[in-house]
Amino acid sequence: MNEFVKVATADELSDGGHLLVEIAGELIAVFRVSNDYYAIDDVCTHDGGPLVDGELNGHAVACPRHGAKFDIRTGAALSMPAIRSTRSHVVKVQDGSVFVKLSDGTSSGPTSFMKPASECCAPQVSVVVTPETLLESVPTEVLESESLNSGKLCEDLVRELLKQVKDPELFVNVVDLGLIYAVTLLPSETPDGKQKVSVDMTMTSPACPAGPQLIGDTKRVVAAHPQVSGVEVRIVMDPPWTPDRMTEAAKDQLGIF
Ligand code: FES
Repeated sequence: MNEFVKVATADELSDGGHLLVEIAGELIAVFRVSNDYYAIDDVCTHDGGPLVDGELNGHAVACPRHGAKFDIRTGAALSMPAIRSTRSHVVKVQDGSVFVKLSDGTSSGPTSFMKPASECCAPQVSVVVTPETLLESVPTEVLESESLNSGKLCEDLVRELLKQVKDPELFVNVVDLGLIYAVTLLPSETPDGKQKVSVDMTMTSPACPAGPQLIGDTKRVVAAHPQVSGVEVRIVMDPPWTPDRMTEAAKDQLGIF
């Protein structure tokens, strides 16, 4: 059973101060605001970044890595790119000391489908696909986008096609999320005039759990256009994605003001 554990003396933390402690093998971020103390997992639920050194504004701490904010009183995720709470813990001050009792459960951490960063963070990964290898697996709703697929192939049209690709957790398309860095049409090498399309795409984090799905859907929707002979998707992590890359439409959709 979890019990209160002394983590500091009350005056060790100044107003607005923070402290990283380890309890039962778990890293816990302890904050002081005015004369109140709070404790949350030192784990950002977006991609596992540490929170203890994040900027504290009122009761909101910002993850230093990509800017997601959490309420230190409850652990609630307040802003993108985090959408799930981090765990909060019970704190009491007694006889001039600060005690923390861990909540039940384990740290939610980032979504479980994560590859080690070493596998996901390569600056660029190229994948080439042809329409023939993909059309059988294209979702029906994608194939129904006849009006787009009958348009003349150009960069703007590819971006419109890519608006069909949505982040599976946020339900916002990759264009409005600001994940598409570049679309390039390569010169046709075949008599039928079909062209290869190269898409430079980023992720909200190097180990984005939705990455494989987003790459696959990107290839599918572009390859479905009849004037496309192949699609190359390059994952580009430099410059890194930041929330300000989102369009106003995406921010509205996510309730970010
Ligand atoms: S790891 Fe915290 S916002 Fe990305």
